Amino acid sequence: MNHLTDITVCNEQELVAVLDLAQSMIDRPDSFDHAQSGRLLINLFYEPSTRTRVSFEAAAIRLGMDVINVTAAGSSVEKGENLEDTFFTIQAMSPDCVVVRHPQEGAASTLADIAEPGTHVINAGDGIAAHPTQALLDALTLRQALGNFSDIRLAMVGDIRHSRVARSAILLLTRLGVGEIRLCGPQDFIPALDSFGESAPLSVFKELEEAVAGCNAIMMLRIQHERITSLPIPDADEYHRRWGLQRKHLDLAAPDCRILHPGPMNRGVEISSAVADGPNSLVRAQVRNGLFVRMGVLHHLLSS
Ligand code: NCD
Repeated sequence: MNHLTDITVCNEQELVAVLDLAQSMIDRPDSFDHAQSGRLLINLFYEPSTRTRVSFEAAAIRLGMDVINVTAAGSSVEKGENLEDTFFTIQAMSPDCVVVRHPQEGAASTLADIAEPGTHVINAGDGIAAHPTQALLDALTLRQALGNFSDIRLAMVGDIRHSRVARSAILLLTRLGVGEIRLCGPQDFIPALDSFGESAPLSVFKELEEAVAGCNAIMMLRIQHERITSLPIPDADEYHRRWGLQRKHLDLAAPDCRILHPGPMNRGVEISSAVADGPNSLVRAQVRNGLFVRMGVLHHLLSS
């Protein structure tokens, strides 16, 4: 693995190796301190981010790397510079890793194609296409809570069609042998199933109550307002009544059903505070695992 642009560029052994590496970093937190000392990571973000950008920065610092943060706002992007030209400028600083988030699908692989040898490009989200490190942290969180992937019955609820988190999670969990993934949300928000390949254990449920019945994991997704151009956006209160996860839904799911959300959460829309802050919620564990997964990805890329 030279770049991490999408789940599809990795084989299953590599994906499991990164999960195992992240878990060993959790179990032995000091043993990787300064393992990549002197290396340089540049974060290049064209879209807002809290968790992803900060955790890449924290992960790099934990490994002893130096970090430079570039955001489109305040950079020459505002003067009309295109992505490739900005990247060439960044490349001239000889970074070992460039983490890129961009609204255009394929942006990270465009940069991977023009990167010089020794520079690893990592996709931190490209349009609706992919968010591979989010999928890895979701998989790690599920594995910690539920063990075998084959035992996982996951309901994925909300704006799945415009979610790069959902797309990467479906591709990764399918490769890892997940038992079942149920998709649920307004019809406009359900993607075409054939885009995930024949082996994806996907089914579509119309009603939230049916989708969560018997599931041991539920992943809630926010409406991707910034990516929806030609569809009507549902009213928030109405959406919450029909598609928002509330305590009453947990009674229908398996006992101890785990709740995931990649953040940012819109409380009172796709998820109620009672669920987000309740005992079944793994939302904070996801954020914490994000640090270790990103350490694992950086260490794996820089050591291979
Ligand atoms: C996600 C993203 O940017 O795709 N955020 C994240 O990285 N945790 C999810 C979202 O914005 O809804």
